[in-house]
Amino acid sequence: WPVLEPEIDAIHRLKAEHNAVILAHNYQTPEIFHGVADIVGDSLALARKAAESDADVIVQAGVHFMAETSKLLCPEKTVLIPDLAAGCSLAESITADDIRGLRERYPGVPVVTYVNTSAAVKAESDICVTSGNAVAIVESLGVDRVIFLPDEYLAHYVALQTDVEIISWKGHCEVHERFTGDEIRQYREAHDDLMVIAHPECPPDVLEAADTVGSTAQMINAVTTRKPRRVLMVTECSMSDNVAAEVPDVEFIRPCNLCPHMKRITLPKIRQSLERMAPRVEIEPAIADRAREAVTRMLEVR
Ligand code: 13P
Ligand code: SF4
Repeated sequence: WPVLEPEIDAIHRLKAEHNAVILAHNYQTPEIFHGVADIVGDSLALARKAAESDADVIVQAGVHFMAETSKLLCPEKTVLIPDLAAGCSLAESITADDIRGLRERYPGVPVVTYVNTSAAVKAESDICVTSGNAVAIVESLGVDRVIFLPDEYLAHYVALQTDVEIISWKGHCEVHERFTGDEIRQYREAHDDLMVIAHPECPPDVLEAADTVGSTAQMINAVTTRKPRRVLMVTECSMSDNVAAEVPDVEFIRPCNLCPHMKRITLPKIRQSLERMAPRVEIEPAIADRAREAVTRMLEVR
């Protein structure tokens, strides 16, 4: 991207100056994903890499809950998010009060919380999960019932794979809830040999119409290892853009929905955040200590 090179060079200089790393989620645009990121991955990989990093500064090229997770795991580091308004409809769908209400209604039932939530919600939870480890974490608890929050569709997907009873919540991802099973079937009719890979935040009829379901990293892995003739990645638009360069022989069929929150992160905002060392992510200590426990419990299991 010749026109972006000065911006990319400036970011590399600033990273070296501040001993900073850029953690980029798989939904970031290719110029961020391939151009400036040091570590890329799904929510689980980014959480693990944040915990292992010896940088002084983390720039989270992703949404706010991801930056909070990095801050929980690296309280001594400066964690920057290039746009504080980069939110998530799932994180918005539930509050700490909602969880306290559920605990009263279902006394003694463990609360298992998707990482796509605020630190305040994590603080009320027993353990976190990501889309890549949800079934394994639920089963690791050795209980008959769990409260699983806030994504109704991920909860439904987990319930299909375990005997543990799942009590769910009505949160949805505004990007994945827009896909439909009919749409997937139409693409199959129009394209021979189409491999359909869906994210578990999609509605149940979409997952039924898919060949494989997985976290964003598992979706990428399915394409790069199986190298299908044609693939449809039922998820955010940038995923196909980012992986297409690695598998030039695979044809990408692209119905895609943009995540407006992920798209708030841009190269100029990344540069500015490194120049100003702001906006920083801070978490109240009383919340941080409890939220960290829920995340580290997850990382200890898987
Ligand atoms: P992954 O953990 O699969 O990367 O998903 C995060 C996310 O926000 C999906 O919409
Ligand atoms: Fe949240 Fe959905 Fe955007 Fe992921 S794609 S950050 S779940 S709104």
